[in-house]
Amino acid sequence: MSDASTKDTDTPAADSAAPSNATHFGFRDVDPSQKQGLVNSVFRNVAGRYDLMNDLMSVGVHRLWKDGMVDWLAPRKSGSAYETLDMAGGTGDIAFRIAHRSGGHAKVLVADINDAMLEEGKARAATDPMGDRLSFACMNAESLPLEPNRFDAYTIAFGIRNVPDLDAALREAFRVLKPGGRFMCLEFSHVVVPLLDDVYETWSFEAIPRIGQLVAGDRESYQYLVESIRKFPDQRAFEARISAAGFSRVTHRNLTGGIAAIHSGYKI
Ligand SMILES: C[S@@+](CC[C@H](N)C(=O)[O-])C[C@H]1O[C@@H](n2cnc3c(N)ncnc32)[C@H](O)[C@@H]1O
Repeated sequence: MSDASTKDTDTPAADSAAPSNATHFGFRDVDPSQKQGLVNSVFRNVAGRYDLMNDLMSVGVHRLWKDGMVDWLAPRKSGSAYETLDMAGGTGDIAFRIAHRSGGHAKVLVADINDAMLEEGKARAATDPMGDRLSFACMNAESLPLEPNRFDAYTIAFGIRNVPDLDAALREAFRVLKPGGRFMCLEFSHVVVPLLDDVYETWSFEAIPRIGQLVAGDRESYQYLVESIRKFPDQRAFEARISAAGFSRVTHRNLTGGIAAIHSGYKI
């Protein structure tokens, strides 16, 4: 059962017409079993241009947000190795930062469902002085083939909104963290500054798909990305989901007026 029509599910009427177990692929209602395949084709299409497109779409600001996440994480620089799982790690932006910020003390497993993204990350690791601190593995955030209580930190940046079953991913994050381990998620969120909201709306829906067309020859993948951002829960709603997965001391910091937010929680 699926509904892959282009109806806009932002309206309550559209939502009530959707199948009860439907999830979203951008603004489309889809059956949960369809979403992952659609997401995978987006990231296969964009993998080769992913890093360049991130810079263009965010005018470089994503680098500051990622730095902000790793600064807040503050990975350990002494004692035993700081074991980190960078989930939906893609080309490794967060993993490299953690390895460098820890002075090489962190060991980061970069996990992603998409081999094409991981291959880009492996190529970067081959030329990065901290490349040997990273390892790469293909896996689904919803069901991790990893033992419980293993990691000091679980990070996920701009990944969780793509996962069909967000709550399953949060439960798995909780399971694989050690007691005392830290969950951190960087994700697009909901703008809390009214005028910025208008500018951001125009940039997202007018500029980004066009840049995708011009630079990557792919408008649709970037249309999905901006739509998926709008469908993601706001800061408070996402905090509640993180808490429901078992995490304590759940809090968030807004970035650039709420365009993005970093969420943090602990397994206690
Ligand atoms: C926007 S990229 C983020 C990459 C990287 N974390 C960054 O910040 O640059 C989203 C990533 O999520 C991955 N992804 C989507 N669904 C996933 C799933 N169910 N399990 C693991 N990774 C997934 C995609 O393959 C893609 O590499």
